[in-house]
Amino acid sequence: MEYSRITSDDIPQIIDYTQKYLTNGEEIREEIELSVFENNYYGTKATEGEKIIGFLTIKRGVQFTVPHPYLEREIRRVTNGGHVYYVDGIWVSEDYRHHGICSSLVTKTGRLVKELGGDYIFIEEWVYPNGHIPVKDAISVWGNPIYEKDVPLFYKDMKKYGMTCPICGKDCKCGALIRLYSVGDISEEETSEDE
Ligand SMILES: CC(C)(COP(=O)(O)OP(=O)(O)OC[C@H]1O[C@@H](n2cnc3c(N)ncnc32)[C@H](O)[C@@H]1OP(=O)(O)O)[C@@H](O)C(=O)NCCC(=O)NCCS
Repeated sequence: MEYSRITSDDIPQIIDYTQKYLTNGEEIREEIELSVFENNYYGTKATEGEKIIGFLTIKRGVQFTVPHPYLEREIRRVTNGGHVYYVDGIWVSEDYRHHGICSSLVTKTGRLVKELGGDYIFIEEWVYPNGHIPVKDAISVWGNPIYEKDVPLFYKDMKKYGMTCPICGKDCKCGALIRLYSVGDISEEETSEDE
């Protein structure tokens, strides 16, 4: 297995996986294609041969899957004009889970955001209707969040935007845990090239 930066050739596979496992809807394809067009789509992939078996993608700016104006203002207030990146998607193929691939992708993303000159990174951690948070521990390599907000029913309006949830369908009951990190707090150990 290898890790490398995503390229434009990977976009169709990433869109397919995103629509199947993260958020479905034509809106998602358009959003990713627009970000690529605007040179604002970065990420790291894990590959086995030609096949992508995991990825973590990021974008510059303050945005959520479903608009939340109050939270967007909160992130802007806390980051106070700094360069902010957000996690657009994290996924690892079912057959490869629980081997630390997500943690490695998170570590490499900390390094990538530093390279891009980012000051902050935030994530919208998916909270399943049963309360399970799939990335909760993997993200701990970024240290302690400087801002955190637990938002039940975070995705309830997704159908208004032409999106559906892979778990709940049109009537999404999932929540999100918003966590914002200062890139300066991510330890050098986590961002050095030697792992
Ligand atoms: C969330 C997701 C990306 C995690 O991927 P992963 O590669 O399995 O993540 P990791 O292996 O780094 O960590 C997962 C668990 O395995 C454990 N683990 C890590 N390395 C391990 C190893 N070598 N041996 C055994 N367990 C290990 C971790 O401690 C963690 O435990 P936890 O579930 O109790 O917290 C994956 O489950 C996924 O794609 N889910 C569906 C999409 C999704 O929910 N995306 C997140 C949107 S915010």
